[in-house]
Amino acid sequence: MKEFSDRMTRLPPYLFTRINQLKREAFAKKLDVIDLGMGNPDQPTPKAMVERLCDTVQNHADTHRYPQAKGMPKFRKTVASWMGKRFGVPLDPDKEVVALIGSKEGIAHLAMAVLNPGETVLVGDPAYPAHFNGVILAGGETYSIPLKPENEFLPDLGKIPETVARQSKMMFLNYPNNPTAAVVPDKSVFKDWIAFAKKHDLIVCHDNAYSEVTFDGYVAPSFLEVDGAKDVGVEVHSFSKTYNMAGWRLGWMCGNAKVVAAVEKFKSFLDYGAPTFVQLSGVAALDSWPDTARAIAAVYQHRRDRMVEGLHKLGWAVPKPKATMYLWAPLPEPCRAMGSLAFAEKLLRDTGVVVAPGVGFGPGGEGYVRMALVTHDNRFHDALLRIKKFLVPEKPKQAVKNKS
Ligand SMILES: Cc1ncc(COP(=O)(O)O)c(C=O)c1O
Repeated sequence: MKEFSDRMTRLPPYLFTRINQLKREAFAKKLDVIDLGMGNPDQPTPKAMVERLCDTVQNHADTHRYPQAKGMPKFRKTVASWMGKRFGVPLDPDKEVVALIGSKEGIAHLAMAVLNPGETVLVGDPAYPAHFNGVILAGGETYSIPLKPENEFLPDLGKIPETVARQSKMMFLNYPNNPTAAVVPDKSVFKDWIAFAKKHDLIVCHDNAYSEVTFDGYVAPSFLEVDGAKDVGVEVHSFSKTYNMAGWRLGWMCGNAKVVAAVEKFKSFLDYGAPTFVQLSGVAALDSWPDTARAIAAVYQHRRDRMVEGLHKLGWAVPKPKATMYLWAPLPEPCRAMGSLAFAEKLLRDTGVVVAPGVGFGPGGEGYVRMALVTHDNRFHDALLRIKKFLVPEKPKQAVKNKS
């Protein structure tokens, strides 16, 4: 067989490939695995969405037909009205909203729709892998914007060399952030991004997949709330985490009409859009906001408290995030030198606890592991006991000397 495409060979190994292999080995040995690796919500989808799906599939036969690639009008109208209600962002549902088969799909296809091979995209480092992998699939190049703890994991755009900024075409950013769980202090941060994008003629894609998974009264803003945002960019949203609908595959992109139209056109050649019955359940989800979303966020907040407090008691200083379903944990001191992949591998082999190695999110993620809060209370208790043993192994008992 001839070589596959360059874009396939350029892709880095999938973040979870090695960890999944070790997980399979652990299962084969009948080890009890506690999986805090992938951000895959464990709780059920709320009843309102499930019931809407059942009713639609059973009673509305026309929804079995091909959907519109851009999303049905009812879905786009509901999204536009929710964006207005939640963020005060007015949107034209016909021109400024496109339904996605999950926001990951939109992120990757946006890169393909706007990039020529060799063009550069500015991407946070560390980042949700679709931000850089989408660019690689599109034949583009990435330039990393370091997200550092000393800058609260926010981008310092002033440090990007002028020549790089001028030659770049797009910029992906994401707050609340995966994997660092960082948030923007308020929407004024976006003003700098917009000014930077205008100066260098860049498209901005702000990934707001975690806008509703926030804690302690923190309210995540939309990039589109700020004047001028729509001139330069779009925002993606997801049903996956907010409503426990990860497997339903539904999200949307909204904002700049030209960018939305490009994604819509690209999708119309590639897919038929999210299934109509899934879109209608998405409408039910947005209609159920804020109650369902708040209840789900409250579960993550409780889990965050439990896990952070437990880790602190073990002497592992993990920051308490204001949003997302993740803890971004610096490797504990005695394990720093081994690096995040070796740490995650050893933790899994020795204890059955799965975490995501930070380096899988880019070189800037080295020195950290990400823990996804996707299991229930008893399992966090077990995970903490196992991590305790791992970090502070019991000293071997001294052999009792024979007195004779
Ligand atoms: C920052 C971020 N964006 C997008 C996604 C993809 O979400 P979806 O399920 O909507 O494709 C994820 C999933 O983990 C994510 O963390």
